[in-house]
Amino acid sequence: MFNERFARKLARRYRKRGLDEVAQRLVDAVRVREGESVLEIGGGIGAIDLELLRAGAERATNVELSTAYEEHGRALFEQVGLADRIDWRYGNIATDAELAPAADIVVLNRVVCCYPDMPSLVGAAAAKARRVLALSFPRDTWLMRMGGRAINAWCRLRRSEFRFFVHPPPAIVATARERGLQLVGEHEGRIWQTVALERA
Ligand SMILES: C[S@@+](CC[C@H](N)C(=O)[O-])C[C@H]1O[C@@H](n2cnc3c(N)ncnc32)[C@H](O)[C@@H]1O
Repeated sequence: MFNERFARKLARRYRKRGLDEVAQRLVDAVRVREGESVLEIGGGIGAIDLELLRAGAERATNVELSTAYEEHGRALFEQVGLADRIDWRYGNIATDAELAPAADIVVLNRVVCCYPDMPSLVGAAAAKARRVLALSFPRDTWLMRMGGRAINAWCRLRRSEFRFFVHPPPAIVATARERGLQLVGEHEGRIWQTVALERA
């Protein structure tokens, strides 16, 4: 699912139009400060990392399950002279906390919906956030749940292992709160909900 073709499409879209609305909302929500570090989990081509570096962050780490993004991601960073400020790491942060260091800013854009064990993923992300954690995930509406069922039926038919999950937003926020973060911002779009939590 998250293959080279998908990565190429994301890179082309980002070059043409910049960040989409949901990604931009996350960038705005974290209010990056000069010299901060960024950890993006499931960051794909790293577009959010790139924007945060441009806005003043010092270093970024992108942790991905899929290696398919790196070629296109690297090309984007090289183009703007930021290739030496990002680390590309591969693996599952939910089961291997050592994959990435803690960071001032932790971001997950449309990642929670791709992973079955929400408490492990969000818990690991929250534990890594020194100042702020920002996430986007699908709104918990009947339409999204129906859409999720349709996507999963299609994936089963295609013998794809991918599954789409609509995890309850209050449980996502509660998981982050248990790691010492408090809710400071929230937005509900038509499909995606974004939240920002800061360390108390
Ligand atoms: C729908 S894509 C979103 C990519 C990117 N954030 C964006 O919005 O363009 C979800 C990504 O999350 C990654 N992912 C899912 N679970 C993960 C985990 N536990 N650790 C690291 N990456 C994960 C997948 O490999 C996939 O690339």
